[in-house]
Formats: sequence, structure tokens, C-alpha cells
Amino acid sequence: MDLSGKFYKAFTDRQAAIEKQYNPKQAEKQHSKGKLTAHERINLLFDNNSFEEIDAFVTPADQPVEFGKVERSYGDGVIVGHGKVNGRLVFAYAQDFTIMGGSLGIVHAKKIAKIQEMALKMGSPIIALIDSGGARIQEGVASLSGYAAIFQNIIHSSGIIPQISVIMGPAAGGAVYSPALTDFVFMVNHTSYMFVTGPNVVKEVLNEDVSSEALGGAEVHARKSGVAQMIYDDEENTILALKKFLSYLPSNNVENPPIVADDGSIGEINEKLRDLIPEDPNKAYDVKDVIAQIVDRNSFFETSALFGANLVTGFSRLKGKTIGVVANQPKVLAGVLDIDSSVKGARFIRFCDAFNIPIITFEDVPGFLPGVDQEHAGIIRNGAKLLFAYSEATVPKITIILRKAYGGAFIVMNSKNLGGDFSFAWPSAEIAVMGPDGAVAILYRKELAESKDPVELKKELVKKYRDKIANPFIADESGYIDEVIDPAVTRKKIISALNALNNKWVKVPARKHGNMPL
Ligand code: HXC
Repeated sequence: MDLSGKFYKAFTDRQAAIEKQYNPKQAEKQHSKGKLTAHERINLLFDNNSFEEIDAFVTPADQPVEFGKVERSYGDGVIVGHGKVNGRLVFAYAQDFTIMGGSLGIVHAKKIAKIQEMALKMGSPIIALIDSGGARIQEGVASLSGYAAIFQNIIHSSGIIPQISVIMGPAAGGAVYSPALTDFVFMVNHTSYMFVTGPNVVKEVLNEDVSSEALGGAEVHARKSGVAQMIYDDEENTILALKKFLSYLPSNNVENPPIVADDGSIGEINEKLRDLIPEDPNKAYDVKDVIAQIVDRNSFFETSALFGANLVTGFSRLKGKTIGVVANQPKVLAGVLDIDSSVKGARFIRFCDAFNIPIITFEDVPGFLPGVDQEHAGIIRNGAKLLFAYSEATVPKITIILRKAYGGAFIVMNSKNLGGDFSFAWPSAEIAVMGPDGAVAILYRKELAESKDPVELKKELVKKYRDKIANPFIADESGYIDEVIDPAVTRKKIISALNALNNKWVKVPARKHGNMPL
């Protein structure tokens, strides 16, 4: 077709103008900060040539600006569109920091809202690639209302389509709440940061000096605040990980996750599992070694690895089908439940429940973390979140008790009476109201005080408690668990249980919504 004719002049002029707008100088600005351009990010995310941009030619709101200036650009600083990621439809927006710092004016906001609404209508995941100075100051309240519309869309889509944010530069001010509302937040180490008030405000209000990195860098949010679930060292690896991550998720809440071929190299009977729990009950081990010997080979994708590391969460596969894994980690704080791990587990479980992902729990938990700090910071309120999330979830729920299952933690970690579907225990399981030391100290306080050899007496009583109470057989004989199993058959047992639960259907009482302890 000849595009030089008079009908096409305006068309080709605009194409040329937009190409000129995205010039190498602008790209260099991003590259010099160790960042990619918005286009480069989109190209990395989507399958070859599959991305279709919309609204590329919209321009900023034509309104009088009394303060500063609004750059007349095509696209208003954000690329929006859809394409294929690993062959599946995905919607995305990528903010362009080279145009007014990726700031969000009303047109920019309307573009995002439009693509969000399309993603919801089509039942496809939406990815936000964020690199923005927040609300565009010059556009005042219009940009604030733009954010409000975006938040509203995220909240309406929550639990219907997966929503994932990737922070690839600044996310400042109230703008941090759009990622915070989505299901998962990825961050890039050293080039991204999130804070409600930046270092300048901190200095003004509190007279404290802090760098952007120390205030809201990726490491801080992955380890301390729990805002970011995944962090990587550069943008390429972040996007590659995101693509892999998406492969575990269904496109929406009425679909099942995609099934991936399993190489079959983890046998249904795996004798290695018999030797993973140390004979000494006080000795730690890495629960991820147990998980790796049960799930499809190399299929475990850990979430929130650095936050609340005493509880391991992540997606994995059994015979190619996605599962959500929740596991106490004896290697960190002996696997106790504290505030961070409870909140982390609760949020992960709720995501799995919303998106038809069965939850497999591996339990080895001595209880809730005692102490003034935890009590005053609200372990009661926060531990209740985990309890609520497990109980509320209607997806298949299976527990394997590996070792300790004491007290409230036994109940919380998907016990049968809390709605767990299948509960298996290894012979190494210790199921009781509390650990042997605590039980002996309470029940035999007087005898120990009066004994000539309290150390020896305590040793005897602890042994007796283990033999008589803290073992899996009492719970097995009374039906509080379903079966004590040979660890070697764990994979087979879980797969059979999942098959049995394939058509699980739970009727919940009609209500507007429960009132989760927040
Ligand atoms: C308009 C902005 C902007 C903004 C940055 N720019 N933020 N323009 N509105 N919010 C522009 C700058 O003027 C500059 O334009 C260009 O983007 C690049 O910014 P720099 O400051 O040169 O870059 P850098 O040094 O990397 O610093 C980035 C930054 C900083 C940390 C993001 O720009 C900054 O602190 N911005 C303000 C952050 C903020 O407080 N935003 C408002 C949040 S309130 P030129 O023309 O010089 O290239 C909010 C409310 C949301 O978002 C409400 C929801 C509840």
C-alpha cells in the first residue's frame, strides 16, 4: 500500500512524531540509572511482537496550568495494552519516567483505568510496571481523582483477576497504594523504592537523615515491611521471574491454573523423605528440602522469601498442577508463628483460595512466639488472621504434620476441625497441647521442686510425655488426623487426596462478607 498519498500524510506524520519522541537520548537517561525504558520493559515481558498498544496517541489534558508546565507528549507518559505472555492473554501498563517523571495526570490515569477495566472484562491478569513520581503536581486534584479511580478498579478486580505490580523506579506518595492493593509486588534491587513520604519530608518533619534506599528500597520492603514479595538484582531478571510466576496462576477466578508437563523424576514413593527429620527433636532442618522431595522437580517458586522466613510460602506443582505451599521453617526461629509469618501466611492463603489453588501445609511448629514485644504488637490480632484465612478457604486443604504440632498452632495450621480436608502425620510427629518441657514444668512443678535430682526426673518425665502424649498415634486413633503415613509415600498420598478433592464443593452461609481481623 502506498502511504505517501494525501489520506495518509497525517497518519505517517504522527507515526514519525511518536518515533522521534522515544529517542535514544531519552533511553540513555534511563540506562544511565541502570533502568530500561518503558518500551524495553514491555518488549521483555510480552512474547515476540504480541504486544498491542492502545491509546498511544492520546495527549495530556488540555487544561490551563497555573503552576509549572505540562509537557505535550504522545501517550502522556504511560504505555498501555495487551499481548501474550507464555501464550496467554495479559494486560499491562508501563509508566515512562522520561515524560514528566512518569507522573500521573488525568489522561495518564484514564489510560490505566481503561486497560484495568478491559483486563477485568476479559478475565486476564494485569501487570503494572511502575516508574513514577506519583500524582502530577501541576494537574492538582484531577490527578488525585485519577489515582482514586485506579484504586477503585484494583479493588473491584481483587480476587477476580491476578494483579501484579513491578516497581522499577520510584513509587512515591499515595502512589504506593496502587501496588499495595495488588496481589503481589516485585521490586528491582537498588533502582526501585517505595515510600509514603520521601527522605526530604522525613528530614523536615523528624530531622532524620535517611537515603531513599534505606527508607524504601527493595531489600527493606522484602525483608522488613513485607510490602514486596519478590526482589531481583536487575530488571531483566525481575521480568523473567515475573513471567515464570505467571505460569502458576490461572487467568481469573473461574479458571484453573495451566497444567505443565511433569518430568516424573520425583517418584511417588521417595525413600529419601524418611531421613530428612533429625532424630533429635530440637535439631533444625530446612523444610525446603522436604518440599523439594515431594513436589515436581524444581517447581517450587518461593514468595516473600525474606519476610517472616519462619513460615515458607510459595507456588509449586504436583503432576503439573499448581499448588500453594505453606510450611513452618524449623531453620528460622525454630519455625514458631509470629506476627510477620502469620500475616504473610494469611495473605498467601487468601490468594490461593481466590484463585482455585489447593493449599498444602507442611507443619512443624512449636507454637506462637512468646514475649512482650509480640503480645504488645498484636500477635493475638495478627495470629487470628492466619486462623481466619485457613478456616475461610474453601479450596482443597491438606496438611502433613512433619514434627511439632503444639497448642494453638496445631489448630491454626489447617487442623481438621478448622476445615482441613486431609491431615496426614509422619511417625516423627509430636501432637499435643504443648511441648514436653512446658507440660512437665506445669504438671510436675511440685515434684520437681521436691526432687533430689530434678534434672534426672525432668528427663524421665519428658520421655514419658513423648511416649504417652506427644506422638501422632493418639490423634490417629481418635480421628483428629486421618492417617500416620510412611514419609516415603507423601507425594502419592497428597496426589490421591487432591484427586479425591477434585470436585470439592463447600456451601458457605450467604453474607455480604466476613469481618477478618485486620
Ligand atoms: C510532576 C514530576 C513529579 C510529579 C517528578 N516530576 N515527580 N512532575 N509531578 N509528581 C518530574 C520532575 O519535575 C522532573 O522534570 C522529572 O519528573 C524527573 O524528576 P527528577 O526529580 O529530576 O528525578 P529524580 O531525581 O530521579 O527524582 C525522582 C523523584 C522526585 C524521587 C520521584 O522527582 C520526587 O520526589 N518527585 C515527587 C514525588 C512526590 O512527592 N509525588 C507526589 C506524591 S503525592 P524535569 O522537567 O526537570 O525533567 C501522590 C498522591 C497520590 O502521589 C494520591 C493517592 C492517594
